[in-house]
Amino acid sequence: MKNVLVINYSQTGQLAEITARVIAPLRAAGHQVHLETLVPETPFPWPWPVVQFFDTFPECVQLDAPPLRPLHVPADGQFDLVILTYQVWYLAPALPMTAFLKSLRGRQLIKDKPVITLVACRNMWLSAQETMKSLIAEAGGQLRDHLAFSDQGHALATFVTTPRWVLTGRRDRFLGLPPAGVAQEEIRHASRFGRALADALDRDDERSGAAMLTGLRAVTVNPRLALSERAGHRAFRVWSKLIRAFGRTGQWRRRPILLIFVLYLVTLILTVVPLSLLVQWLFSPLLKLRLDRLRAELELPSGSQEFNLKKYDL
Ligand SMILES: Cc1cc2nc3c(=O)[nH]c(=O)nc-3n(C[C@H](O)[C@H](O)[C@H](O)COP(=O)(O)O)c2cc1C
Repeated sequence: MKNVLVINYSQTGQLAEITARVIAPLRAAGHQVHLETLVPETPFPWPWPVVQFFDTFPECVQLDAPPLRPLHVPADGQFDLVILTYQVWYLAPALPMTAFLKSLRGRQLIKDKPVITLVACRNMWLSAQETMKSLIAEAGGQLRDHLAFSDQGHALATFVTTPRWVLTGRRDRFLGLPPAGVAQEEIRHASRFGRALADALDRDDERSGAAMLTGLRAVTVNPRLALSERAGHRAFRVWSKLIRAFGRTGQWRRRPILLIFVLYLVTLILTVVPLSLLVQWLFSPLLKLRLDRLRAELELPSGSQEFNLKKYDL
């Protein structure tokens, strides 16, 4: 029997549901799972008032997270594995996860431990995962697997459905577009990871240093989106610093520059993103080799292969 620590935070319950699907087979196999739900001292709203939604941007990108309530993990808790589940806010880990990874207690819990990350977001998690990797490494943890769940529908459709969900709380079908969030079917099949992990823990694979959840289609990266995301993240870093130079969260002084950022963001989404997708699509035969290599690299360590699906995806 192994001791597993799972860190979770979810506003709508979507990530909590995916997490529960992964945990259930672990518990059924007799492993001990401590599920810790992060609670910010000042809760974040759902749905988000529009001003607060944009005003949170600079702190997300600059990893300046407000404090959490004390954790419930027993002080002497010894864990064999840590699973960090998070969502993406502005191409960065959501603030509660950032707060955990930057806290002394969080770092102690991760130190020298194998770590699995699980993300559920609209579809742009690559930059956030790079940040997660750095924060985990700084704390002395070893990232072993990464699982990614993205909102259903085309990238252009989720530019409408995800913000609508976040700002109004409405998730239903809209203008013929699919409902917001991760597809129910995808969520249901998340239990395959728990079944495979239970077997891996029985074999002491968490001590081996290698990925444990390969062959289960853990991540599928669209390398074309990766290129736009990289450009977006670079711009976000500049904008977030600039806005913070005008004032702190909630201060009126930074509202004008925030408004300019919002206009920039909308213009970017309406013009640059579709254009860059179109250009990449046109040149895809020429870029194919480069994009394939990039995809394989970004899908590490767990990958998009499917050789274990038959065994674990019931
Ligand atoms: C402030 C904020 C910013 C977000 N930014 C992104 C983003 O940059 N990329 C992305 O893929 N999803 C983004 N999302 C969507 C979330 O990752 C997530 O899918 C959604 O908030 C539901 O998660 P939950 O109900 O489990 O908390 C954002 C959500 C919020 C609230």
